[in-house]
Amino acid sequence: MCGIVGYLGDRQAFDILIKGLHRLEYRGYDSAGVALVNDDGNLNVYKTKGKVKNLEEYCKDKNISGTVGIAHTRWATHGEPNDKNAHPHYSQSKNLAIIHNGIIENYLSLKTFLINKGYEFKSETDTEVVVQLIEYVMQEQKCDLYKAVHQALSQVVGAYAIGVVERNNPNLLIAARKASPLIVGVGENEYFLASDASPIIEYTNKVIYLNDEEVVKIERNQEIEIRNLKSVKLQPTIKELSLNLDDIEKGGFDHFMLKEIFEQPKSLALCMNGRLNKELNEIKLSAITDYYEKFEKCKRIVITACGTSWHAGLIGKYLFESLCRIPVEVEVASEFRYRNPVILPDDILIAISQSGETADTLAAMELAKKQGAFVFGICNVVGSSVARMTDTGVYTHAGPEIGVASTKAFTTQVAVLVMTALAVAKKLNTITEEDYHRIVKELSVIETKIEEILKQVDTIKDISKIFTYAKNFIYLGRGFNYPVAMEGALKLKEISYIHAEGYPAAEMKHGPIALIDEEMPIVVVAPHYAMYQKILSNVQEVKARKGRIIAIVSQGDEDIKKNADYTIEIPSTEECLSPLLTVIPLQLLSYYIAVAKGRDVDQPRNLAKSVTVE
Ligand code: M6R
Repeated sequence: MCGIVGYLGDRQAFDILIKGLHRLEYRGYDSAGVALVNDDGNLNVYKTKGKVKNLEEYCKDKNISGTVGIAHTRWATHGEPNDKNAHPHYSQSKNLAIIHNGIIENYLSLKTFLINKGYEFKSETDTEVVVQLIEYVMQEQKCDLYKAVHQALSQVVGAYAIGVVERNNPNLLIAARKASPLIVGVGENEYFLASDASPIIEYTNKVIYLNDEEVVKIERNQEIEIRNLKSVKLQPTIKELSLNLDDIEKGGFDHFMLKEIFEQPKSLALCMNGRLNKELNEIKLSAITDYYEKFEKCKRIVITACGTSWHAGLIGKYLFESLCRIPVEVEVASEFRYRNPVILPDDILIAISQSGETADTLAAMELAKKQGAFVFGICNVVGSSVARMTDTGVYTHAGPEIGVASTKAFTTQVAVLVMTALAVAKKLNTITEEDYHRIVKELSVIETKIEEILKQVDTIKDISKIFTYAKNFIYLGRGFNYPVAMEGALKLKEISYIHAEGYPAAEMKHGPIALIDEEMPIVVVAPHYAMYQKILSNVQEVKARKGRIIAIVSQGDEDIKKNADYTIEIPSTEECLSPLLTVIPLQLLSYYIAVAKGRDVDQPRNLAKSVTVE
């Protein structure tokens, strides 16, 4: 939620900051702003409602000089998206400017305190309170900015990644983080600051991942200095990024979402690389080899996540229960964290997150950890908070996912769950050798089957155009494909703004059937497995009420074709792997419906890529 960028070096900062904002725009796009300190000692702040391109336009006739600066793209929490709530925020004297990603929970009490001290506020944001507090501390204690940031943040409750610059000090940039991501890029005579690596990779692959409650002093021509909030000096650890510039460009596709849909064969191959041995037909997950006894001992697994990752978790339930015979509960993290859940001594908590920064998921993990659960993480972003908080974990290696609607993250999460469940099942002897090798073999060729589905893009595009009229959609599925129905519905609503519901197909007759008329499109995920005959009956129930059916079926299925208005075929595979295939046409369907409706697919309204606030 919100993207922040900073620069201090020999080059002019503005272009670097703007480019960085474009790369981080997936995190929020309600407003954007920049603050620059130039050699004359001026601190200029420019900000405006809307996207980064509006900011660029706004800055055309402004003085944008300066070799140190900070910039921000906002996803609004406190205060509506407008110019005055846009970041950066000045302090009272306008000597300081701040950018912030996160939420300050005690901002009201701090604000009251500062108002009583004579401070005036220009915005409704929690962020302005922090910059005012820093200035107050500087004036009261007659200390420098670095010290004041330490002191001020010691009084702050909440989550923050901040960058602060000072008028008359073109040689200094201060930053800090707690529970919101922040990376420092280390170049030749220059430093970068960003919420993720994408604004940095073009300039350097050397980075420092800041930890919670660390404050960094970036000074021109100096080594950087990091201290924790207690002012203890820390040794920075420089890591090398393995990201490529191509990974974060659209590469000829109209949208990142489309690129990421088409990347799935590759991302799944990367996800399985070194883990699935095609010659031996075996899975080896180094993350769990030392922890099999945890799975042997546990009485249940609890999976927690949000949004699309939660849907992957629901598939995880089917996988662990059917392959490993371990009971599984799956819960959205925002509910889990607040309902005082029962956590048993040998519980394993599996947390799933693309970004690794989702606040609710992190809080759920923290809670489970405190109560003694073993925490296993599945996440995409290397070095993210989820990755750092787990006892062990598996990266999905999907590569950067920039489209707000999650696609390749989902399929790689499912692949990791499949591999984990298969490895555990083998160890626990809950799967026969024959079944194990057959499923592993199928998994090893899943990419080629996805490629086959992607070839049907034009058919799916044509079907999409027919349904742009719809105000509602119902998605139905059963077993492993019930979560896929929910995922299809989520994809459609978030990018096309069409209301959609995902249901277990047999539940339809308990309510949603009342919605069906000749206007209502029903997407039925109905590949040919154990429940096929049942779902065929559900299809007939829809047809009898004149619903318009789009069916995702196994290749060669003639029965459903008789009732469905449109069918999209998927190649045959093992049932437990079928979500990896059935979800692909649903992603494409939602994408093309949204495009046909003229929606902003990569940056849908009100959303942001990672929800780092409650
Ligand atoms: O980064 P995470 O996987 O933790 O994010 C969870 C959800 O916010 C995310 O999946 C969201 O639902 C996506 N927009 C879905 O496409």
